Formats: sequence, C-alpha cells, structure tokens
Amino acid sequence: MRIDILSAVPSLLESPFNDSILKRAQEKKIVEIKVHNIRDYSTNKQKSIDDYAFGGGAGMVLCIEPIHKCILKLQEERKYDEIIYMSPDGELLNQSICNQMSSSYKNIIIICGHYKGIDERLRDQIVTREISIGDYVLSGGELAAAVLTDAIIRLIPGVLNNETSALTDSFQDNLLAPPVYTRPAVYNNWKVPEILTSGNLKAIEEWRHEKSILRTKEKRPDLL
Ligand code: ADE
Repeated sequence: MRIDILSAVPSLLESPFNDSILKRAQEKKIVEIKVHNIRDYSTNKQKSIDDYAFGGGAGMVLCIEPIHKCILKLQEERKYDEIIYMSPDGELLNQSICNQMSSSYKNIIIICGHYKGIDERLRDQIVTREISIGDYVLSGGELAAAVLTDAIIRLIPGVLNNETSALTDSFQDNLLAPPVYTRPAVYNNWKVPEILTSGNLKAIEEWRHEKSILRTKEKRPDLL
C-alpha cells in the first residue's frame, strides 16, 4: 500500500511514521508513506499557499493550485483508489472503515487542511472521501491523517508480528478487548485473576470473551 500525505506543515508528520510499528512496516516494504509539502507546489515568489477567503471573514484558506498540482503530479505516476480530505465534517472514522480501507485500497492520497480549510472546489472536484476522527476541531489535519494512517496500516497482514493481536483488538468484533495482565502475578497484594495462570486455554478464552461482553455492556453499550 502507498499513502501520499499532502501537508502545509509536513514536520508535524515526521515522528508518527518514524518509530515503532509504522517505521517497521515501511522497512519491511509493506507500506510506503510519502509526505509532500504543498509549499513546494506554490508558483508565486513568496511560496505562499493560502489566501483570504472571498467574501471576507476571519481566517485564511489553503489555495487550490498547489494542492491540485501536487495531486496531478502524483496521478501521473500511479492511479489512486481514493483522495481523502481530513475534515471535522467528514464521515466519522471507525474500525469498520479502517478494515475496509486497509483491505481494499492500494494507493491513497490524504489531504491535510489548515487554517479555515481548503478551497471548496477541491472538495467538489477532486476529493473522493472526507474523514473526521471525532467531533472536535484540530488545528490542522496532520494529526488526524496520522491517526487514519496508523489505524489502516496496523491491519495489513505482516505489519504486526502476531497477526492475531490486531484481530483481538477492541472493536474488531464490535466488542471491547478484555483486560490483560503481566508479571508479577501478585503486586502490592493485588492479584491477577487465577484463571489466567491456570494453563486451561479453553477456560481462559471463555473468560476473556465473557469479560469482553461485560466490559462492552458497561463502557460502550451502544456497540452491542
Ligand atoms: N481537521 C481538523 N479537525 C479534524 C477532525 N476532527 N478530523 C479530521 N480532520 C480534522
């Protein structure tokens, strides 16, 4: 899978992709993530990428040209399954969208907004899907793009060492994940549930499933 991210502040995206699971996924060549600075596609002397909104009002708007130019250049090199715009007015991201994207997309472009957003003509003419990561407003789309990228990539087979660990994540079957414990078995007189140290794998699996249901009922009954 290849993910191209267009940003006005590309440095915001350096660390999320250069550590841990996402770094390894790139090293293993399972995924290619490219961050593009839209300023590089500005054609004016000042290399500006934003301007005042027509009709007035506070806040700047990201101009159509640098973003469109960057997309056209990328499209000369390969076909894209989707051009996604990160925006609080988009479809609310959930695990089922991540599963769908992870299993069916080969190449995607993600546009990060900034300031008041991007020129609406990009949304009308170029963008094919809009995604929000929650009902709150971030200063820009970069953190949201990092969230989306992470959530998609970890689902690609081979990215996690133990593939079942993605399958047993919260939300994968509309249930929250069960509690987990590690050594020591007793700490400060707080004990790990005995069943987990019993060695009875079938009983442990049943216990985990029961705990998942209980936890979901308690914390997220809307999922059931
Ligand atoms: N950009 C700003 N806020 C956002 C949000 N909640 N989701 C996605 N992109 C955003």
